[in-house]
Amino acid sequence: MFQRASNLGSFAAYERLYTESVREPEVFWKRMAEEHLIWRRPFRNVIKWKAPHAQWFTGGILNVAENCLDRHIGTVRENQAAIIFEGEPGDVRTLTYLQLHSDVCRVAHVLDNLGVGKGDRVAIYLPMIPEAVVAMLACARVGAIHTVVFGGFSSDSLKDRINDCQAKLLITADGGWRRGRVVELKSAADKALAHTPSVQTVLVVKRAGNNVGMHAGRDVWWHEMLAGAPAIHRAKAFDSEHPLFILYTSGSTGKPKGVLHTSAGYLLGAKLSSHYVFDLRATDRYFCSADIGWITGHSYVVYGLMSNGATIFLYEGAPNHPEPDRFWQMVDRHALTILYTAPTAIRAFMRWGDEHVLRHKLTSLRLLGSVGEPINPEAWQWYYKLIGKNRCPIVDTWWQTETGSILITPLPGATPLKPGSATLPFFGIVPRVVDDQGREVAEGQDGKLVITRPWPSMLRTLWDDDERYARTYFGEYPRHPEWYLTGDGARRDKDGYFWIIGRIDDVLNISGHRIGTAEVESALGTHPAVAESAAVGKPDDLKGQALIVFVILKEGQTSSPELAEQLRAHVAREIGALARPDQVRFASGLPKTRSGKIMRRILKDIVAGKTVQGDVTTMEDVSVIAALQAGA
Ligand code: WT7
Repeated sequence: MFQRASNLGSFAAYERLYTESVREPEVFWKRMAEEHLIWRRPFRNVIKWKAPHAQWFTGGILNVAENCLDRHIGTVRENQAAIIFEGEPGDVRTLTYLQLHSDVCRVAHVLDNLGVGKGDRVAIYLPMIPEAVVAMLACARVGAIHTVVFGGFSSDSLKDRINDCQAKLLITADGGWRRGRVVELKSAADKALAHTPSVQTVLVVKRAGNNVGMHAGRDVWWHEMLAGAPAIHRAKAFDSEHPLFILYTSGSTGKPKGVLHTSAGYLLGAKLSSHYVFDLRATDRYFCSADIGWITGHSYVVYGLMSNGATIFLYEGAPNHPEPDRFWQMVDRHALTILYTAPTAIRAFMRWGDEHVLRHKLTSLRLLGSVGEPINPEAWQWYYKLIGKNRCPIVDTWWQTETGSILITPLPGATPLKPGSATLPFFGIVPRVVDDQGREVAEGQDGKLVITRPWPSMLRTLWDDDERYARTYFGEYPRHPEWYLTGDGARRDKDGYFWIIGRIDDVLNISGHRIGTAEVESALGTHPAVAESAAVGKPDDLKGQALIVFVILKEGQTSSPELAEQLRAHVAREIGALARPDQVRFASGLPKTRSGKIMRRILKDIVAGKTVQGDVTTMEDVSVIAALQAGA
């Protein structure tokens, strides 16, 4: 049923378009850029590529915000919802495309008046509220470069990011709602602002109504500034390669990397992938649970979805507030049709219990997505059965902050699914799995995932650190200086499907055997007592690395030496004796980033008995470290 109705239609259609896209990439990308983007002046070249630097669609000029908003004005879409917002306290607000366009125009005037324009950096530190989308698009409209800092980051992290890119303006809010309490963003921002001399103005959105101090001459209220501003704004157009945003992401060192994305290529990647991967249509109400502070929020809440004229649902708060069924309540209340979330969230829902899901109908859903880490088969099956009611395809989408858009993914209705596999490359993408010498590894063998050709939405550099860009992402293989290094391990099966193992530094080598931490975790996930787990390597004289697993049990389960033994045997049964964990440690929490990724380097330090090293500013709950060290 899904197949007949989908945008692509069939697997043969995918193969046809994919083949064209890699046989004649310039022809393919030229057509896509002409069909999908609105140009003020057509581009002259499709690509200029001198590794590691790519320039796409040079000679062309366009305005990214116009491509997301103005194109819908005067069409039937203008009165359709662009954003349906639900705040954590339950307040609901809908903005049509016309209303969103007016707000963005007003803010664009405010930016003009503040002297913030082409190339200036603007930091955005907001809760998940419509104003975050407005702020991003207003920056795009005037050619300012936004850097969104996730509202869960500390004032220190905010300060470092502002200083790294020398932002002139900060857009923040009094506070936002999280688990029934106000997160005081403005006071966190104030702490940062004491050490950020580049910031001249602070625009403050009133959201939570908490008391804030307004610094005279620096801080101004968003709503007061907007009140006098006209709802029509004539936008300038910018070069295809004009920088659109910087987004900071963790690297292997403590200093976050400022990933730089530019305009036309990024927007095309986000738009085209949204159209095909989410099979978008006018009646969809799409919910991506990622915060706007992550790349997923940039590409698959704002740019990719709005350029397609989709209706997005935005939720401010925690998934388990006031009860663990909040998402399912909202799905029914707003008749949401697409849900895009992370495996870590899915495992949390599993842990909270099926009863919270079974209370709700969920009949509006037609497509599910997963992103951020490999999805273990148990979570996949649960997502498919309990949420999708056995009728919604799951798109397991592989990509990175750096790639800008989804690169390996099923296309719903076209690609036959295999639970746990991100399946096949998107149009124009040529990934390969290679060994340390750059030779393609055999079918079923683990290797390093590289992308052998440039693609429009790839990062262009790291802000102010082009040398680190070249070193981190290119040049590992002297004979192939043009290969982009993903940092992920993967393998390819007999059908050409990609199975992502995880970050290469998460791959263990035990007695000469390579074992992905995700494989072990997925095996543990099939045991009825296990809610979540993390596998790490501990230096071992005999085996190179010993396998230690941290296990969080489901509610109602009790730890015991017997259970530990059972779990070791279980993994050995699932994967093979080589993967039998040397030790099972029961824990009550795992160190995670605020985006939900397990911070294995911290666990590695803990099992090695070392003091925890490196940056912990991205960590959700630092007290977990002490608990783990104490054996809790
Ligand atoms: C890393 C990128 C892409 C937006 C969210 C994360 C892992 C991402 C998958 C997937 C297996 C995945 C990779 C990648 N990853 N999606 N579908 N299957 N692994 O963005 O923080 O830049 O992280 O997330 O390891 O390298 P990010």
